[in-house]
Amino acid sequence: METTVKRTKIKALLAMAPGAQVLVKGWVRTKRGNKQVKFIALNDGSTINNVQIVAEAEQFSEELLKNVTTGASLAVRGLLVPSIGSGQAVEIKAEEIEVLGECDPMRYPLQKKDTTMEYLRTIAHLRPRTNTFGAVLRIRHAMAFAIHKFFNDKGFVYLHTPLITESDAEGAGDMFQVTTLDLKNIPLDKKGNVDFSRDFFGKKTSLTVSGQLEGELGATAVGEIYTFGPTFRAENSNTPRHLAEFWMIEPEMAFYDIQDNMDLAEEFVKYLVQYALDNCMDDLQFLNSKYDEGLIDRLRSVLGIEFERVTYTRAVEILEAAVAGGHKFEFPVHWGTDFQSEHERYLVEKFFNKPVILTDFPKDIKAFYMKQNEDGRTVRGMDVLFPKIGEIIGGSEREASLEKLEQRISELGMSRKNLEWYIDTRRFGTVPHSGFGLGFERLLLFVTGMQNIRDVIPFPRTPKNAEF
Ligand code: 4AD
Ligand code: MG
Repeated sequence: METTVKRTKIKALLAMAPGAQVLVKGWVRTKRGNKQVKFIALNDGSTINNVQIVAEAEQFSEELLKNVTTGASLAVRGLLVPSIGSGQAVEIKAEEIEVLGECDPMRYPLQKKDTTMEYLRTIAHLRPRTNTFGAVLRIRHAMAFAIHKFFNDKGFVYLHTPLITESDAEGAGDMFQVTTLDLKNIPLDKKGNVDFSRDFFGKKTSLTVSGQLEGELGATAVGEIYTFGPTFRAENSNTPRHLAEFWMIEPEMAFYDIQDNMDLAEEFVKYLVQYALDNCMDDLQFLNSKYDEGLIDRLRSVLGIEFERVTYTRAVEILEAAVAGGHKFEFPVHWGTDFQSEHERYLVEKFFNKPVILTDFPKDIKAFYMKQNEDGRTVRGMDVLFPKIGEIIGGSEREASLEKLEQRISELGMSRKNLEWYIDTRRFGTVPHSGFGLGFERLLLFVTGMQNIRDVIPFPRTPKNAEF
């Protein structure tokens, strides 16, 4: 299209006063009308809202209007005029229309009646064009931006930690191995074990499950850092809350104790929820009306209150009392067990009716680096539990004592060889320090009200699924 008019994005255009010559580009959502006039709803992804294009049939060729189908891409130049019927203040009276890319209505998968979340996952390459995924992607972006803003405003340093690593930070062992060895011809050493000295890095390496250990190196140098990157876990958990590849935000702060850590975590998630309410209202309203009538109220409900802070031991008492009172859980609960999501949700949704921060867990269910309490059986961990999600944040004060850390490493039979660099932080000028990890997609489940974590990341990776 030959024109001197500059393209306006639809979000900006819908806020403009009528009278201007405008140029828009986007994809057709719907076309309706009659012989005389066509109404085209155009969307360019800048907002959930479409702009209505009004095209007088006599001004355009039949051939051109026939190619204006759902999914086709258009450039439209015309006059911005007041609108009566479109639900918007303005619409475009088309003067020139160019079909940039045709879209065969018989073959376009988004034409299908079946728009269940399950079906849309099978066409994840096209689902961003739906209203729902457009909204989710814009909210995802806004949350990522707000995370950087929150930490930048506080003077935290964004630290890039490696994705390929030899350390299993969480000690859970569910790592994806990274290798260039020929799997059909694996080199063995004299004892018959795989000879990793012949591998690319000369040692056994995996994709990281957490940037925390390297984060601690940053925090004990520049004070306060955060990481924000992809994280990989090869746990075979096929649940609506687990991904094999997810994004995690891990702040780590020198001179913070567990109280400071909890205060920061609470301030952080409240800031993000407030940011979404302030900046994503169109998208939230859409999701609220289409899927989840309680969404916006639930977002507001976490802002005005203080999260409940309760020890693991007290929580076990509450859950045991619930069982004694007749409440049925699928999994048993007693002191020493890790809570299942049904237990977490009972505490949050039934008992306290607000977000809960659980602290002071049995040391045997938590990672080696957590600060040990005086009682010898618990560690200074903290999990933030949210309504409908369960655990959204996991963190702790770190064990700062060289002696206690070394003792825990040997108790657990961990290989010290790979950890000497980490232990150096306790050897040279050790300080009290703390940190936590927020699961980005768990946060997005809460903020968008989506039911399944596969629907808040563009291309989910789960057991037996790595398409696109
Ligand atoms: O509780 P996690 O395992 O803690 C850590 O990794 C610590 N190194 C964090 C720290 O102290 N710096 O994981 C942190 C969070 C969880 O609370 C959860 O929100 C999310 O990461 N998460 C997952 N999200 C999606 N899919 C999975 N498989 C997840 N595993 C953990
Ligand atoms: Mg955890």
